[in-house]
Amino acid sequence: MNVLLLSFTLINLLVFCKSFDVHQELSYAIRQYSLLAKNLEDDDRFIYTGDPNNAEWDKSTDSMSWTVGFYTGTLWKLYKLTKDDYWKQQALRKQETIRHRQFDESNHDVGFIIMSSFGNALTLTGDKSFEAIIIQAAHSLATRYHSKSGVFRSWDNGAWNSGVDGDVLVIADNMMNLDLMFTAAALSGNETFAQMAISHSEKTIENHFRENGQGVFHVVAFDETTGNVRRKFNYQGYADDSTWARGLAWVLHGFVTAYEHTKTRTFLEYAERAAEYFVDHLPEDWIPYYDFDCPFTEVYQPRDTSAAAIASHALLKLFKATGKVKYFQQAENILESLVSPNYRADGKSSYKIPAIFVNGTVFFNAGNFNTAIIYGDMYFLEALDMYTTGSGYKNTFITWMLGLIFVHIFRIF
Ligand SMILES: *[C@@H]1O[C@H](CO)[C@@H](O)[C@H](O)[C@H]1NC(C)=O
Ligand SMILES: *[C@@H]1O[C@H](CO)[C@@H](O)[C@H](O)[C@H]1NC(C)=O
Repeated sequence: MNVLLLSFTLINLLVFCKSFDVHQELSYAIRQYSLLAKNLEDDDRFIYTGDPNNAEWDKSTDSMSWTVGFYTGTLWKLYKLTKDDYWKQQALRKQETIRHRQFDESNHDVGFIIMSSFGNALTLTGDKSFEAIIIQAAHSLATRYHSKSGVFRSWDNGAWNSGVDGDVLVIADNMMNLDLMFTAAALSGNETFAQMAISHSEKTIENHFRENGQGVFHVVAFDETTGNVRRKFNYQGYADDSTWARGLAWVLHGFVTAYEHTKTRTFLEYAERAAEYFVDHLPEDWIPYYDFDCPFTEVYQPRDTSAAAIASHALLKLFKATGKVKYFQQAENILESLVSPNYRADGKSSYKIPAIFVNGTVFFNAGNFNTAIIYGDMYFLEALDMYTTGSGYKNTFITWMLGLIFVHIFRIF
């Protein structure tokens, strides 16, 4: 008994005691976002990215951008982590500027926008008036559901995305917007929302995942008339048959979230497949190149810290769902590397941006990389929150503490 507990404690010690200092990283995040919040206090423009060498984020983001919810989401996470009312007041004020987006039927990202703002607001304040906004947003996304194909139409067709007449375009990222549908189903009792999300998830398994675990496609075009697949391609990654890192991170996060809502084993299985591919294809420092198949041995290719942050949060969720310690360790390895001077927004003396990370890739093909990205920061805080307070971690931590106490008791007798 004694020996068993001792070895158990030692294993836990080895596994869970790392150099990564949560409190130090939280203080750093607070410092950076205090500067940013001050800068945006009387400014209702929107931010998305930032040049590391500028003291201000780029404020030219359109109010109709898909990214307008993430700054509010970051403020809500800071409130959750600090319990400081300052962040709550900032978040409440900022989210009013995007309230109208609950009616947006023009693309699939109403899920990202409303869940990172009003979704967090509901969870953290318990104010039930936010429920109606979430349900309305789900109705908006439901208008994009194409029954014949069984999927949400992510984008309308346009020259910019090579969508032609009769296409129903679905991007891997769309998995992230299903959280809205599952949440709205639970809040309203309208099961249609959940059924649509389940069908979309099943279609993603069928069509986005490649055979034999060869990563995922970014875009699948269905035929509006027949519902069959027309073609598959990559909008944001390196090549049609490559795996764009953030796309895979969205898929991983989306499937573990779909599992949390539905407890469907297949969704968990595909989250694990996505995780395996992601981790197996990382470079030595755990931060992915923007695409897993880009020619980084031949020519400089940028990393994507945002994909790393999203994946670290998803891996912690996966640890909680499966109890497999490897996912916790993988998440921790990613977090440790992210907070090294290599990727921190205070990592070089020339950096001035009040962000948490630099070296995010927005869109490599458009030359938009090595920048701060708002959702990279937000998902890092999500991960930090789960790493410190998430029930999965806490349970393991409590087991470890109990083990330690028992060993001491046995030593005394
Ligand atoms: C549930 O939501 C769907 C999609 O918006 C809608 O068509 C349907 O009328 C709703 N059902 C109820 C009972 O409100
Ligand atoms: C991170 O971005 C900076 C420029 O801001 C660049 O000099 C550096 O090489 C990038 N790091 C990596 C690993 O690509």
